[in-house]
Amino acid sequence: MGRKVGIWMYQNGGGDKIEKKIVKKLKERGIKSFSGLNLRNAYVKNGHIYHDKLKVDKLDLFFSYNAGEQTQYQVFLYEALSRVIPTINSYEAFELTEDKFQTSFLLQHNGVPTPEFRLHHRDDNHYLEKIIKKWKKMVYKPTDGWGGVGLTKIENQETLDMLLPFLNQMDLRFFYVEKFVKYDNTDYRVDIVDGQFVGCYGRRASGSDWRTNITSGGSVFLREPNDEIIDLAIKAAKICKTDIAGVDIIYDLEREEYVVLEVNGIPAFATPEQEKMGLNFNDKKIELIVDLIDKKTKSKEN
Ligand SMILES: Nc1ncnc2c1ncn2[C@@H]1O[C@H](COP(=O)(O)OP(=O)(O)O)[C@@H](O)[C@H]1O
Ligand SMILES: [Mg+2]
Repeated sequence: MGRKVGIWMYQNGGGDKIEKKIVKKLKERGIKSFSGLNLRNAYVKNGHIYHDKLKVDKLDLFFSYNAGEQTQYQVFLYEALSRVIPTINSYEAFELTEDKFQTSFLLQHNGVPTPEFRLHHRDDNHYLEKIIKKWKKMVYKPTDGWGGVGLTKIENQETLDMLLPFLNQMDLRFFYVEKFVKYDNTDYRVDIVDGQFVGCYGRRASGSDWRTNITSGGSVFLREPNDEIIDLAIKAAKICKTDIAGVDIIYDLEREEYVVLEVNGIPAFATPEQEKMGLNFNDKKIELIVDLIDKKTKSKEN
């Protein structure tokens, strides 16, 4: 019986072509792929997870690489599946990196510099007032957000006073706030697969915006990382136990050191347009992912 893996991968921005390359390379190694394996369409019966007639839990591995389209149901099954077969990323790492507080906490606890942050119960308004006095500027962040959406810069007591009634109206459990880092409005996105450096590019915020996200108007540019940045990204990926990670790093001008903003568990490959610009790490990333799938499924075969 040959090895079999399930793949659920994003299709936009060149994802479909990347998937085809991965499938081809896996085939060359005798590994059969079942692509388009959307757990949204799966169901559970008699202790098995089915997708059409396929028993997903009998596969040797599940590769989940679709950030945008996960429903709660899918994520629920991803969790169950990861208890019985290897998944990339592991559900544990996926869940961790989906949450900015959990990620920053674990990183900081393990000595990786991150922006300073605080977590408080939602009733602890007075702490926020204390913190803004101390930090001068801070960022309110939804812990499960993406693309810079919902990030709110709080620059003074007045902004805080204005925001608090709204936050109190929402059914929040807590406040997660970060000190606003003084930086040059550019970042490094460093891709890591299986503890190895894959590639790096930079993003620059547009005009007056302080967020580098493409969805917030930021633009991508070619950027070489130094060893310190690469080591930091590798360390962050290891702490988060992410087989695949895109680590976002900025340089804190006040602390004079690099800090990790977040770890993305499903970092996009370079799009065809970005490849034209010179972002040329896709093939290396594909190779390392195929190696990783090969390695993780080998033990089962013997
Ligand atoms: N503490 C901070 N200080 C200054 N800028 C920040 C801070 N946190 C985030 N940013 C900016 O906002 C962008 C989005 O923040 P991030 O935490 O990566 O959330 P998202 O998941 O929305 O990308 C970052 O790329 C960075 O440009
Ligand atoms: Mg980000």
